[in-house]
Amino acid sequence: MSLKNNLAMAHEFMKKTITKNSITVDMTAGNGHDTLFLAEHSKSVYAFDIQEKALNNTKDLLNKQKLTNVTLIHDGHENIDRYIQEPVDGVMFNLGFLPGYDHKVATNHETTIEAIKKSMLLLSKNGLMSILVYHGQDSGFTEKEKVLEFVSTIDDNQFKVLKLSFENQRNYPPILILIEKK
Ligand SMILES: C[S@@+](CC[C@H](N)C(=O)[O-])C[C@H]1O[C@@H](n2cnc3c(N)ncnc32)[C@H](O)[C@@H]1O
Repeated sequence: MSLKNNLAMAHEFMKKTITKNSITVDMTAGNGHDTLFLAEHSKSVYAFDIQEKALNNTKDLLNKQKLTNVTLIHDGHENIDRYIQEPVDGVMFNLGFLPGYDHKVATNHETTIEAIKKSMLLLSKNGLMSILVYHGQDSGFTEKEKVLEFVSTIDDNQFKVLKLSFENQRNYPPILILIEKK
């Protein structure tokens, strides 16, 4: 095995957890790459984003691949409990802003932590949450700090929490946090 970047690592870990019978969630649809990945590897996907542009980009990507197993939700992921009441096997967060668009429209630690807490309640036994935390350039520093602080307090009787970070790479590569339900 070779060490890949943390986005690819998130997909690798997720592939080992979810199945074609799984319900999964993309908490930050963005340009749709993670939604597409989840749609290809699970039964059905819920995908959230607060930006219509992001949901349209995601819809276009899915249409190109003729995938119809995704429910797109134009709302903040912190409201996940309004839309999903069933157990889910995989949840992916890819924090930050929509690449190519306004950097100020980005995830923030308060709603991100609320969304993490709510989706932890939905995770099935052995279900996995991946959180890719971007920090660098002009944003993400406070969110990184607060999210890392929060995940370190998660009850170890119920969840395992792993943090992966490349220690010698330039340009602030994202940190990957994995939360597995015991
Ligand atoms: C880094 S992008 C996601 C990239 C995406 N996973 C992909 O594969 O292209 C982060 C996205 O989070 C969205 N976002 C920001 N705050 C949000 C919130 N509270 N709920 C849901 N999405 C949010 C942004 O609009 C942006 O599209």
